[in-house]
Amino acid sequence: MNINIRNWETSDAERLAKIANNFAIAKWLTNKYPYPYSLDDAKAFIAFANEAETPNVFAITLYDQVIGAIGIHPQDDIWSKNAELGYWIAEDYWGQGIATLAIKELVVYGFNHLNLNRIFARPFGTNIGSRKALDKAGFRLEANLPKTIWKNDQWYDEYIYAIRQY
Ligand SMILES: CC(C)(COP(=O)(O)OP(=O)(O)OC[C@H]1O[C@@H](n2cnc3c(N)ncnc32)[C@H](O)[C@@H]1OP(=O)(O)O)[C@@H](O)C(=O)NCCC(=O)NCCS
Repeated sequence: MNINIRNWETSDAERLAKIANNFAIAKWLTNKYPYPYSLDDAKAFIAFANEAETPNVFAITLYDQVIGAIGIHPQDDIWSKNAELGYWIAEDYWGQGIATLAIKELVVYGFNHLNLNRIFARPFGTNIGSRKALDKAGFRLEANLPKTIWKNDQWYDEYIYAIRQY
């Protein structure tokens, strides 16, 4: 599979707005992820992604077409050796191992270029697809926090997965 991770380009905005505007994606993400997802939202996201001194928010492409997004977010202060991973894949491409590949690639990038020792993700407990992708990418379940996330008028457990290197 010809999966690639690259920086965002301003010309990606229309494609991004098209694939990102999907409740099936938004329902598993924080409220920072807009729904509905407009062209202006896509432009703002790309501008934000390109602000970083060290790139940390990327487009995922399949045969040069954007099919998702992935970001690795280093934490502050005493947590500076930790970074949080966030990602989503366009619904038409789910279940083909693409998230697993992208996560693995960002882990290598994080450990090699961002001076990290721990990379973590916090899927909802019911987000089986994300949990399986993390598992396949070598992450371990570190914690299960019952009824911690409040989204769309409902409680969800928060699961914390991490991969470490010392
Ligand atoms: C979660 C998400 C990124 C997974 O992407 P993906 O490319 O489909 O992931 P992968 O194919 O690498 O792995 C997912 C695995 O979970 C499985 N899976 C997906 N949904 C499932 C479900 N409801 N029940 C059981 N297994 C499920 C897939 O079959 C696959 O396992 P397999 O390789 O053994 O077949 C994608 O579904 C998505 O974008 N969801 C919305 C946003 C989101 O949840 N982001 C993550 C926030 S933490």
